[in-house]
Amino acid sequence: MSGLQGFRPVRDITDFAEVLKPEEAEPPILSPAIRLAVRQWLVELAAEEELASYGLKPRRTAMLSGPPGCGKTTLAHHFSARLGLPLILVNMASLITSFLGGTGQNVNKLFDAVRAQSQECILFLDEFDSVASKRVSGARNADNERNSIVISLLQKIDTFPGIMIAATNRSDDIDPAIWRRFGMQLEILEPDADARFAILTRYLAPMTLPEESMELLTEVTAGASPAVLRQLMEGLKRDVILAPRYGQPVEAKAVLSRLVASVRPHAEAVMPPLWTETWAMESIAKMPWPPVDGREDSPEAS
Ligand SMILES: Nc1ncnc2c1ncn2[C@@H]1O[C@H](COP(=O)(O)OP(=O)(O)O)[C@@H](O)[C@H]1O
Ligand SMILES: [Mg+2]
Repeated sequence: MSGLQGFRPVRDITDFAEVLKPEEAEPPILSPAIRLAVRQWLVELAAEEELASYGLKPRRTAMLSGPPGCGKTTLAHHFSARLGLPLILVNMASLITSFLGGTGQNVNKLFDAVRAQSQECILFLDEFDSVASKRVSGARNADNERNSIVISLLQKIDTFPGIMIAATNRSDDIDPAIWRRFGMQLEILEPDADARFAILTRYLAPMTLPEESMELLTEVTAGASPAVLRQLMEGLKRDVILAPRYGQPVEAKAVLSRLVASVRPHAEAVMPPLWTETWAMESIAKMPWPPVDGREDSPEAS
């Protein structure tokens, strides 16, 4: 313990956060509208001086909302990579303590630690709703504490010198004043058919299936998040490679039935036809199959 009264050491950022390196980022597959918004933001940040001559400033804050597994974290990481900066990822829920005043102190310590960083970086505040929920009028200590955290966050957002991205699965819970403080609000939803096709293709690689089969898989996974699509395609590759070793058939219907039994969208999400409709599995039984390894030096090719 330090003997200095009121001395608050600046804690290391890694006490609160995970630092993601730019070189480890992977670009998410997004809708054209979101892709454009991201490109606009990058152009804007590069045009700081030009904008200044018109009395304008580039936006420095963004709020990403939308269901889990649709690419909020992936997008923030990709964005930091495009700027060549590390991403400081903080799960805001981890700052919550039951000690009176403790959560607010953790929020302060976090911002102190970020300010003390010598290297420029992007701050990513995940599960932002856990500290920025709507203010309530109540006399209970917990309500007062929550309200004062929201007020202090408003001031922190206004004075933060760098680029800040927040994310939430629960946009309805965010305090409206906090919501408006962000320079941009992007909603990242479940992918449409074009995006699903691209996501399925990416995560099936290096294996490939005929286009007709990819189109069917796109259709039967309507409503699924990219995270589920990835799990499905990675599971498919694993199963096709290993099924003979556990003595199971590798026909399309057999493989997909095993996958459906072990990969499942969360109950809060829309259940895609693959999990609910008998026509989906019947069509799968008839689709062109099996996947092939498209690499020239693949074990199959040699
Ligand atoms: N739009 C996307 N395109 C490609 N892959 C995605 C996309 N969204 C999510 N993923 C994959 O799903 C996983 C979870 O995504 P994540 O970015 O953590 O979602 P979120 O932060 O919205 O909950 C990641 O491993 C990522 O590879
Ligand atoms: Mg996330």
